[in-house]
Amino acid sequence: MSRRALLACAAGLGLAACATGVALRPSEAQLASLRAAVPNADVAQIEPGRQLFTSRCAMCHAAPSPLSRPPEAWPSEVARMASRAHLDASQADQVSLYLQAVSQPEPGPTPRSTP
Ligand code: HEC
Repeated sequence: MSRRALLACAAGLGLAACATGVALRPSEAQLASLRAAVPNADVAQIEPGRQLFTSRCAMCHAAPSPLSRPPEAWPSEVARMASRAHLDASQADQVSLYLQAVSQPEPGPTPRSTP
């Protein structure tokens, strides 16, 4: 888990960032940064991707934490696992988009400047 996510947990903010569980859904802020990073992202594909992720990516090992990798690392990771999980190309894209969404950094609290 990133330091920022840990800080967000410590501050009691962004509870979603604390959960490594499979129910994680992207926040509005994460959707905004996803749109910036992936301009042609079809956000309607995120929820089907989440469902495929929970059902197909936890068969051989525990579902990996979406926060275990930066967003840009997920497409190749999912490509590597797609045939193992019996995902077709469009399903792999959905899972990849879901993971890219929920691994976007959350804006944390503004750090206090120390006097
Ligand atoms: C048929 C079994 C199987 C399925 C289904 C499967 N995996 Fe894997 N996965 C493995 C095996 C075996 C490894 C370890 C070897 C490797 O890294 O290639 C692994 C490793 C990984 C790793 C690397 C773990 C690490 O920290 O080094 C990630 C990430 C991963 N899988 C993600 C996924 C995702 C995402 C899906 C769903 C699309 C998925 N896996 C579905 C078998 C599977």
